[in-house]
Amino acid sequence: MSKFSRRDFLKLTTDGLLTLGGVLSLGGLLRFLSYEKDPAPPSEYDLGPAINYLPDTTTVLAHIPAALICKGNNEYLAFSLVCTHLGCTVEQLNDTFECPCHGSVYDSEGQLKKGPSQKSLPRLKVTRNEEGNLILHMS
Ligand code: FES
Repeated sequence: MSKFSRRDFLKLTTDGLLTLGGVLSLGGLLRFLSYEKDPAPPSEYDLGPAINYLPDTTTVLAHIPAALICKGNNEYLAFSLVCTHLGCTVEQLNDTFECPCHGSVYDSEGQLKKGPSQKSLPRLKVTRNEEGNLILHMS
């Protein structure tokens, strides 16, 4: 009958724990090496048929985030809703856009009215494709 000594038990336990640690570390390393960056956001958005945007209306495109103003006669104006101070998303309040973070205020066309921001909201280009859809260009 073989005798399983205390030394054997400690060696077996230590080897088991080291093996387990190595396997877990390898799993983490493999996950780290297979990390994929999020895809870049699109540079253009199809906003659908232009006839959906009535003259003298402002549409907040919260998922982009941007605002589109239809001024009538196929004239559109768009601007980003990302505050030029530190990047919070501004919110529409009556005829203004206000930043919930530090209180910058922009007028109905994105022009700066009150800081701490130093710049107006960036204008975005709007075009119409051959199907009559409005295309919002982010840069
Ligand atoms: S992020 Fe808008 S005022 Fe600071």
